[in-house]
Amino acid sequence: MINRRLLKKLAEQNGTPLFVVDHDQLRRNYSQFKRYLPRVQAYYAVKANSDPAIVKTFYEAGASFDVASMPEFRIVYEYIKDMPDKERQAWIWDKIIYANPTKAEATLQELNQYKPLVTYDNYEEIKKIKRHAPLAGLALRIKVPNTGAMVELSSKFGAAPGEAVDLILAADKAGLVVEGLSFHVGSQTTNFQNYVAALELAANLFKEAKDRGYTKMNLLDIGGGFPAPYDDSVKPFRNLAALINRELGRLFPKNIQILAEPGRFMVATAGYAVSKILGKAVRDGKLCYYIDDGVYHTFSGVIFDHCHYHLKAFKRGPTQICSVFGPTCDALDVVSMAEQLPSDLKLGDLLYSENIGAYSHASSTWFNGFAPAKVVHVNQ
Ligand SMILES: Cc1ncc(COP(=O)(O)O)c(C=O)c1O
Repeated sequence: MINRRLLKKLAEQNGTPLFVVDHDQLRRNYSQFKRYLPRVQAYYAVKANSDPAIVKTFYEAGASFDVASMPEFRIVYEYIKDMPDKERQAWIWDKIIYANPTKAEATLQELNQYKPLVTYDNYEEIKKIKRHAPLAGLALRIKVPNTGAMVELSSKFGAAPGEAVDLILAADKAGLVVEGLSFHVGSQTTNFQNYVAALELAANLFKEAKDRGYTKMNLLDIGGGFPAPYDDSVKPFRNLAALINRELGRLFPKNIQILAEPGRFMVATAGYAVSKILGKAVRDGKLCYYIDDGVYHTFSGVIFDHCHYHLKAFKRGPTQICSVFGPTCDALDVVSMAEQLPSDLKLGDLLYSENIGAYSHASSTWFNGFAPAKVVHVNQ
């Protein structure tokens, strides 16, 4: 377990801004996912945090992987490159899904040699896959309700239910094999009914495909969206898992392989950020702290992930509502406009945030010349 004392010590030893990853917590998250969803094969969504050390820990724990770019594919490939050809081929087929529905031609050309499973959701993609990666297996990404998810994905991705089976038959006609369906209910989905609706829809499409003569589908990919416990309003994972297990049992026979692509759930609670106060001012009567990490760096999720992170002080004392700003010269660099922090923090004092492992350091930039936070791995 990472406690405040250890975080402070690590920051004193390594400097700030600091991003700390607890590998025991990564393993706990993976085993919790497996324990509560025993029928579901967990493909860690590498985009949530693509640090190779994190990928290695999940690899060693036995996870499968969802990659969405060639650089992500290569991070995973690094751990299997020395396997004998046949074994590696089987591993890729069983444990990697390239889950970006739109792929560059060059990506498909490179992927073809690995005969991977890839997602698609439109006719142009079928033509591209046929031309550049005919050895790939396909999973049709369908559009499902994303209501109430923190990050909605359904306006950018997914075939409409009415065209789904047409797209399956079109791929079949092109000589490709559609292995099954995939969906994503939206990231940080606290509305568990999204899964119920999506599973029902997928089951109906399995039936429609069969009725229309297509019988080769044998897998269902239930995507990501599993919520991290950012606050008490998030109901326990076991409740969601019970619901999913019940619906899977009701709608999908045992011979249908079930996979999922959890990202946030696997890494969010394993990441911590420690930053230092660089400046302090009072603006319009409000206390403002300026810290050495911000939205172009570890707090990028404030912008890209619609996520709010709380900042806590190591020092105690009377508190007030403060603004917390990042270090860059851009007014967008606002970590929070309302954090309850001690009033008497001094320049050089440290702040920390918990549950910041997903979609955070992964999208850090070098904007304004400020480097991403140093990463320290604990319990590796
Ligand atoms: C295709 C796909 N799979 C999985 C994920 C991971 O989702 P989450 O982090 O909500 O589990 C994402 C996130 O955007 C995604 O786009």
